[in-house]
Amino acid sequence: MSKNIRELLKEETLPYHEKLENTKISSKLAKAELTKDEYIMYLKNMKALHDTIEPFMCSFDEFEKYGLNPKKRTRIDLVKKDLDILNSSDEIPPLDIKNLKTPLEFESAIAWMYVLEGSTMGGGFLAPRLSHFKGANDEVATNYFLAYKENTPVMWKEFIMFLEKINEDENVDKKKITAASINLFKHLIEVMDESC
Ligand code: HEM
Repeated sequence: MSKNIRELLKEETLPYHEKLENTKISSKLAKAELTKDEYIMYLKNMKALHDTIEPFMCSFDEFEKYGLNPKKRTRIDLVKKDLDILNSSDEIPPLDIKNLKTPLEFESAIAWMYVLEGSTMGGGFLAPRLSHFKGANDEVATNYFLAYKENTPVMWKEFIMFLEKINEDENVDKKKITAASINLFKHLIEVMDESC
């Protein structure tokens, strides 16, 4: 029996997830060794990504057909909030979507949602390593990493159920989904390599 899209995504992106985890900035993050400036740089890069990808994802009404609301999964306000707490003023512009070298179609929106939603899984594990980054009034700058908080497993389960429905739809090209998710991982590896 052929593999379903959920299995394919996990398997095919695994080597890229490992590479991403092994970038200098991610390893420092995992070991709680990031400086404040490096953490700000990390958040700015993620902000540039969310700034571009979220409006793109939200532009596809097709998600509603499968019972998923992409607007419920946007995290741009959380990353902006953390940058505000850390008093970071200088902006980096949103990512130019062309840099992701991927066709701008529904399959890519699914793929990129997979990468961003998946990152919430590691977020809860990483947040305690960042909880010393605080602003005035001792406000902790981990809103982005903690994102869905105790709802993280439920949000992920709903997303996996969505992938199962996608799997049944012959009109959705599964190869395009895995290719687009790999392209986003490659982009992230490049950006993180340049950041530290
Ligand atoms: C130091 C950096 C990172 C660590 C330590 C980490 C850790 C983890 C862990 C522990 C899981 C599995 C959670 C579970 O199955 O219960 C996971 C899943 C995942 N992470 Fe990361 N992560 C990191 C960075 C990222 C980044 C930056 C992204 C993308 C923006 C990402 C995307 C994903 C995806 C897509 C999954 C889901 C894999 C699947 O089950 O299909 N991760 N991560």
